[in-house]
Amino acid sequence: MAALPKEAVIGVIGAGVMGAGIAQVAAAAGHTVLLLDAQSEAIDRALADVDRGLQSRVRKGRLAADEARATLARLRRADWDDLAACALVIEAIAEDLEAKRTLVVRLQQVVGRDCIIATNTSSLSITAIAAGSAHPERVVGMHFFNPPARMRLVEVVSGVDTSPAVARTVFATAEAWGKKAATAKSTPGYIVNRIARPFYGEAWMVLSENAASPATLDAIVRDCGGFPMGPFELMDLIGHDVNLKVTQSVFEATFFDRRYVPSLGQQELVRAGRLGRKTGHGIYDFRDGAAPPQPAVEEGSEPVARVVAVGSLGIATPIITRLEAAGIDVVRVQGRGRSAEAGWLEVGAARLMLTDGRPATRRAAEDEHEHLILFDLALDYANTPRLGLAPADQCGEAALRTVCATLAQGGFACSKMDDVAGMIVLRIIAMLVNEAADAVAYGICTADAIDDAMRYGVNYPRGPMAWAESVGLDFFARVLANLREHYGGERYRTSVLIQRRGWTRSGFRE
Ligand code: NAI
Repeated sequence: MAALPKEAVIGVIGAGVMGAGIAQVAAAAGHTVLLLDAQSEAIDRALADVDRGLQSRVRKGRLAADEARATLARLRRADWDDLAACALVIEAIAEDLEAKRTLVVRLQQVVGRDCIIATNTSSLSITAIAAGSAHPERVVGMHFFNPPARMRLVEVVSGVDTSPAVARTVFATAEAWGKKAATAKSTPGYIVNRIARPFYGEAWMVLSENAASPATLDAIVRDCGGFPMGPFELMDLIGHDVNLKVTQSVFEATFFDRRYVPSLGQQELVRAGRLGRKTGHGIYDFRDGAAPPQPAVEEGSEPVARVVAVGSLGIATPIITRLEAAGIDVVRVQGRGRSAEAGWLEVGAARLMLTDGRPATRRAAEDEHEHLILFDLALDYANTPRLGLAPADQCGEAALRTVCATLAQGGFACSKMDDVAGMIVLRIIAMLVNEAADAVAYGICTADAIDDAMRYGVNYPRGPMAWAESVGLDFFARVLANLREHYGGERYRTSVLIQRRGWTRSGFRE
């Protein structure tokens, strides 16, 4: 389906933060854009904001001055009757179902037969917004991210009655505007806000178990997981009020699925007015004079000169390469039984292995090895500057310090966590993969759409489906089963597609 041609007139209703940005994107793509707002000053502000944004790009040499002028000239203040000329009207008014429903009904009385009405709602059901209007088949979600001019992703969300042709036109149009579009069925949180829940939720769970300080957990997620920001610093940036509200809305909209249960810790922060950067204090203290948060790094003692690698470390094999490059002699021993594929390193008295969702203390008992230390999952073991370590309760301090000193030779700063099942990166990734698999299983979106959405909507370094494919579904199935056994309850139930070990990239089933 083709994108709307440049000559198509676009209407934007609600000229706030989002409406102004969306109008700028459409005008920059060559469309005449009609702007409407209940408050006339909102349009003045929007035009001034767009002008400022464009001028700043001109100053940085990213945009030609005459292009900026032309873009601004294509933005017009409009009245209701002018909307009759529009091929697409995007609403970005307040997040209120009744207001949006009333608006859609009124709009359909003004616009032409083929006009598409798109809503930028971030949480409401597209089906509910369209219901009761004369043409629900022409109503579709077009969910931009903030700020629309900079964020690449647009989720194209279909309600029960949305015509596939309408969704395809909006998809193609978003892409023609330079965006990455991802299609989804109307469902709580659509793609990004649903799949991302474990990034925050698991972090809160691990913090509530006192596994480490927020700064240490953030550093492990950033450095080992490759995420641009750790969960706590990101929530401080988003605002805990906003983040909690999204979590609550997904929790309520899924009929209280325990997987999305909001955090009591976050609720307390909101009650205290510690909303994050915007109030100067959230998890972290941003006020003048506050010390910047420091992640904990374990002190090492004497490194060992020789390490024994038993079996295969699998994805973590580059740890061996890095130790060897640092001059440490690594003796490889063939593993037998489980160690053939889930091997370990013998470093002095300690045994170092990748977490699989079981706590170190339990594994130490099962493997009858006292000084067991688990390390966390990493996006790229060849380059990670840090490793998260969780020693078993039985593990001696001296054994841990020898491991830290040895790993430091290979360029790993070691951050210790308490012995929490699945640690932090693996726990987050396993649950992102689980959530993503469920979205495919339920026909909400394709595996490709998920990876695009998470990479372009929230800048994840790798989409959950790509994580699943690179590490392997057997591993994630084992991790989720271990987490479920450890914690009980519904939270860590394994998606049917992980149980069936697969999906196709562009379809909904194996
Ligand atoms: P905003 O409060 O900055 O702007 C809303 C604008 O709509 C205001 O200028 C207001 O005067 C106008 N307005 C309200 N009711 C109206 C009506 N009935 N008719 C005409 N104009 C009306 O809000 P913001 O942040 O731009 O959000 C707009 C929509 O975009 C909401 O649905 C929100 O959930 C969604 N959204 C917001 C994101 C964000 O980060 N702020 C991200 C993605 C979506």
